Amino acid sequence: MSTISRRTFLATATAMGAIALAGTVAYAELPALAKKDTYKVGFAQTESNNPWRIAQTESMKAEAEKLGYQLVYTDAAGSAAKQVADVNSMIAQGVDVIFLAPREEKPLIPAVMAAKKAGIPVILLDRNVDQSLAKAGEDYVTFIGSDFIEEGKRVAEWLAKNANGKSKIIELEGTTGSSPANDRKKGFDEAIAAAGGFTIVASQTGDFARDKGRQVAEALLQAHPDADVIYAHNDEMAIGAIAAIEAAGKVPGKDILVLSIDGGKEAVQAVVDGKINAVVECNPRFGPKAFETMTRFAAGDKIEPWVINTDKFYDASNAAAELANAY
Ligand code: AHR
Repeated sequence: MSTISRRTFLATATAMGAIALAGTVAYAELPALAKKDTYKVGFAQTESNNPWRIAQTESMKAEAEKLGYQLVYTDAAGSAAKQVADVNSMIAQGVDVIFLAPREEKPLIPAVMAAKKAGIPVILLDRNVDQSLAKAGEDYVTFIGSDFIEEGKRVAEWLAKNANGKSKIIELEGTTGSSPANDRKKGFDEAIAAAGGFTIVASQTGDFARDKGRQVAEALLQAHPDADVIYAHNDEMAIGAIAAIEAAGKVPGKDILVLSIDGGKEAVQAVVDGKINAVVECNPRFGPKAFETMTRFAAGDKIEPWVINTDKFYDASNAAAELANAY
């Protein structure tokens, strides 16, 4: 589908009833945001099934409360269709602006376009949408988030330096069709191929979830008993993989290296305990930056298309010292 045009995609989505875009697709300018003392702000969250999401939601709620803004919060419970409906409900409630963490890159495009058509600016948080179908500064204000390609690359670079002869990798991918899963795979796979000497023996989705990660790791360890590295696209799947490694009678962090992305407290503790070897942080504390960006937009500033979050890195050299700062 990545080769179809924006217009074809939106027309198809409308015909399928994915969202009522009513007639022809209009490509008006980005909606403006009036300067006001207070705002009614929508935040359409993807799901709440892990510490990363919970930390992100808490950060958004705390900042809205600090500013005295009304926050209309929705949780799509892992369903892109529900998230589209959540955005439509926010439009109906007349919010001033919508913060959207799009579960997947393509299915949320109609929601972005519906908000634009209704004159409500959208700011994408933490996950991006398909860049061939929607553009920052045109269809939505900006994308605020980490560089997921770089995150995957940093994991691969650590592995290339610290593998000690280990070379057969199982990759646990995030939610299929989401920007972090696509980009963390790209960044890692390209860098590991460039390093040379490694083989990705299996790569399968664990949907960013702990139990799914455990189940998939268990099956893949049985199919590839010589695997000696597990790279998980997030902490939840890495923690699930640790259980699978132990169930297979092996020692995580020693017999099988475990590498992860997110940097939640439980994962950083696992680095201290030697069960995870390295974690690239993905910073979930969006609140201050999200609302500051919104304020700049309301003031008429030209917003950059990507407001980049910077991420830390944890391994045995710093995990104990950093534990208290992890979310
Ligand atoms: O989009 C960021 C990813 O989504 C985090 O790595 C993951 O834990 C979350 O669900």
